[in-house]
Amino acid sequence: MVQIHAPSDAAIRHLAEVLRAGGLVAVPTETVYGLAANGLDAVACQRIFAAKDRPADDPLILHLLEAEQVTRIAHWSEAGQRLADAFWPGPLTLVLEKLEIVPDVVTAGLGSVAVRVPAHPVIRRLLEACDLPLAAPSANPFGYVSPTCVEHVVEGLGGRIEHVLDGGPCEVGLESTIVDLRDPSRPVLLRPGGITAEALEQVLGVSLARASIAQREAGPQTAPGQLSRHYSPRTRIHLHEKLPDELVARPAGVEALLFLTRPSVEEAPTHWRWLSDTGSLEQAASRLFATLRELDRAGFEAIHAELAPQSGLGVALNDRLRRAANQD
Ligand code: TXA
Ligand code: MG
Repeated sequence: MVQIHAPSDAAIRHLAEVLRAGGLVAVPTETVYGLAANGLDAVACQRIFAAKDRPADDPLILHLLEAEQVTRIAHWSEAGQRLADAFWPGPLTLVLEKLEIVPDVVTAGLGSVAVRVPAHPVIRRLLEACDLPLAAPSANPFGYVSPTCVEHVVEGLGGRIEHVLDGGPCEVGLESTIVDLRDPSRPVLLRPGGITAEALEQVLGVSLARASIAQREAGPQTAPGQLSRHYSPRTRIHLHEKLPDELVARPAGVEALLFLTRPSVEEAPTHWRWLSDTGSLEQAASRLFATLRELDRAGFEAIHAELAPQSGLGVALNDRLRRAANQD
């Protein structure tokens, strides 16, 4: 049976012991909930892969309390320090050359390791109490929409894990931005996220090259018949730059409309949803995953979703919408 722990001092102490003993704990971060284990314990990390049904070739992120601890697990650089000063603690993950101490299971045998210093006060208290790097991928079965509150974690992994630490809803709501910084003179954006490319480029003083790990995160690509099970929402999503008038004029039916911003109508029809009340992309990002789950449960046959402007946080928002819409 899964236990949900309020973040009391006693619970944090207890869960730090669980982690030290090789157990798993689902933890809140400012981006999404993570499924954590001792990142230096190969057997414990193996349990993360089993609980998530995650393929062994998909490496994990190590979470640290402080940027100063990076040199215990990876090679550091001046560019890394500048990014850390600007964005840590926060939703930025750096891929660095790893040191020997990091188990192969964490990095899927790669010579690099992904590192992040999270901002959420609850995971920070846990990191301090256990004094370990915590390996933590998003706390969802592999390929599903990431969890942004305790209920989502329990929905996806409730039958497979024993402990969830409650830190409330996640403020950012999209996974961290990942930058490959193995060659500090040529940083590569691997995944758009809570920190925008524009903000990173300003601090680095160079433009980011782009590569994508979206394919890997989407799930196994081999057996088409099994694919749908690796995607959530199950409901088919159609994307639009702007929702066409013809769709907006339709009465309620089997297809939902997902606006970026609340439309200015007195009373919205029951098949309409929106991600932000005022047009704030931050609010839209924080509500995206919960809204997709709600629409999935509501049983619509399709969702017509409006894309965000393709800049700033809109890039990450559109990336997640496209992945959710991608059925092949
Ligand atoms: O916001 C986040 O990043 C959340 C919270 C829990 O911190 N974590 C998260 O983890 O989204 P996960 O495992 O769902 O996504 C991590 C991504 C994966 O696509 C993985 O392939 C990539 O990071 N990754 C990890 N290590 C890597 C490495 N050494 N090189 C390239 N990509 C790596
Ligand atoms: Mg994930």
